[in-house]
Amino acid sequence: MSHSTNREPIGVIGTGYVGLVTAAGFAELGNDVWCIDIDEAKIEGLKQGRIPIWEPGLAELVERHRGRLHFSTDLADALEHARLLFVAVGTPPTYSGDADLSAVHAVVEAMPASDRHALVMKSTVPVGTGATIKRLFDEQGKGGFRYVSCPEFLKEGSAVEDFLHPDRVVVGDDGDWAGDAVVDLYAPLDAPLVRTDIKSAEMVKLASNAFLATKISFINEIANVCEETGADVVEVAKGMGLDNRIGPKFLQAGIGFGGSCFPKDVTALKQLAGNSGYHFQLLNSVIEVNELQKRRVMAKLEKHLGSLVGKEIALLGLAFKPNTDDMREASSLVLSARLQAAGARVRAYDPVAEEEARKLIPRGVDFKASALEAGEGADAIVLVTEWPEFAELDLGELATAMRGTLVIDGRNFLDAAKVRDAGLFYEGVGRPALKDREPARTA
Ligand SMILES: NC(=O)c1ccc[n+]([C@@H]2O[C@H](COP(=O)([O-])OP(=O)(O)OC[C@H]3O[C@@H](n4cnc5c(N)ncnc54)[C@H](O)[C@@H]3O)[C@@H](O)[C@H]2O)c1
Repeated sequence: MSHSTNREPIGVIGTGYVGLVTAAGFAELGNDVWCIDIDEAKIEGLKQGRIPIWEPGLAELVERHRGRLHFSTDLADALEHARLLFVAVGTPPTYSGDADLSAVHAVVEAMPASDRHALVMKSTVPVGTGATIKRLFDEQGKGGFRYVSCPEFLKEGSAVEDFLHPDRVVVGDDGDWAGDAVVDLYAPLDAPLVRTDIKSAEMVKLASNAFLATKISFINEIANVCEETGADVVEVAKGMGLDNRIGPKFLQAGIGFGGSCFPKDVTALKQLAGNSGYHFQLLNSVIEVNELQKRRVMAKLEKHLGSLVGKEIALLGLAFKPNTDDMREASSLVLSARLQAAGARVRAYDPVAEEEARKLIPRGVDFKASALEAGEGADAIVLVTEWPEFAELDLGELATAMRGTLVIDGRNFLDAAKVRDAGLFYEGVGRPALKDREPARTA
């Protein structure tokens, strides 16, 4: 084994968001990392220094540690150099909402019998997956393979930062060398450690995401009641968030959560409960509220513009949240489809996610090179993703360029007073107190 420090070399299987950030993060801590993926183009690109995802700080980290990061499509390379094989392959939803574990099982199948290796599961999997994999190992005569659950909590948009400064590290294992080795690997990060059994570790991940999603749907429902009663949800959230039992995070009302994790993990937990004979009432509502929240934008547009047939609607931001190009389950996908179904013409601008968006929005949306260009001739603007650059928009110029005056702020991100001062009509989420008395001018 050739490595420059006394840190343990590791393998990472699957070099997507989680795998590549984990690999780069451990390289930063001094580990040699063998990164394996079945996607040959991705591995070829990585070898040449091309980073397949947009994530702040990641390209710099990969570049800085090129000497420690080894990219390959051959699992044998990781098996030869490392004992710990982190699994970070995708676990997308199936049609039923259960997690699709086929990539995880492909990795399990590919493992040889060994007494010196361990799988360390980073992918988000249903509770019981570790037990199933251990049973499969036994059945396949690979009972010496160890198993550790080490769920990942990084957030896209700040993934590198989250890896280096995690709120906690969760290690679920059978109390053997592999669990100890994973704990040692994370030790330099000095994060609170929860060392537990495998099933509890698996549940920590699912329950954490479900709780965060619940907080979002909760504040969105409060916002909807604010719209009926005249309160401003931003003020309400500020007042609630100062209670340290509640906390200020995840209390931003908007047009619903998206992304590659919350929708799928919440549904997977609901399904897991259902499959085990328990009806998870609350999660059903969390999911339903989120779906309805995306659609409320339509009602707001129609309230001001009447029929949307032939109306020009500009979407500002497409990614499911700022600082990422991830378009999976983004609210913009539902919105652009609903708008087109209602006869509107949709133009859109996103500073980073256009390329990803083009893959998921195959036709109908006119992509523009700037927010201002998207606003040119538009009857209404909908702010979908709170990219920092939208706070710097020249609202006067925007007002001149638009055909109408309606600005729907789907993330309560813009300064309402400034929007109004520019002669535009502001409508946020759950903020009726900010509305102009004047109706919006339509085309
Ligand atoms: N993205 C996030 O923010 C995030 C956060 C926490 C946890 N997770 C979880 O981590 C897991 C990975 O998520 P992601 O967003 O990084 O996925 P991703 O789709 O970005 O990456 C998965 C990678 O695995 C590769 N792969 C698939 N099958 C393989 C195989 N048999 N061998 C080797 N490589 C294979 C794919 O080619 C791809 O590069 C999921 O379970 C997800 O739920 C994701």
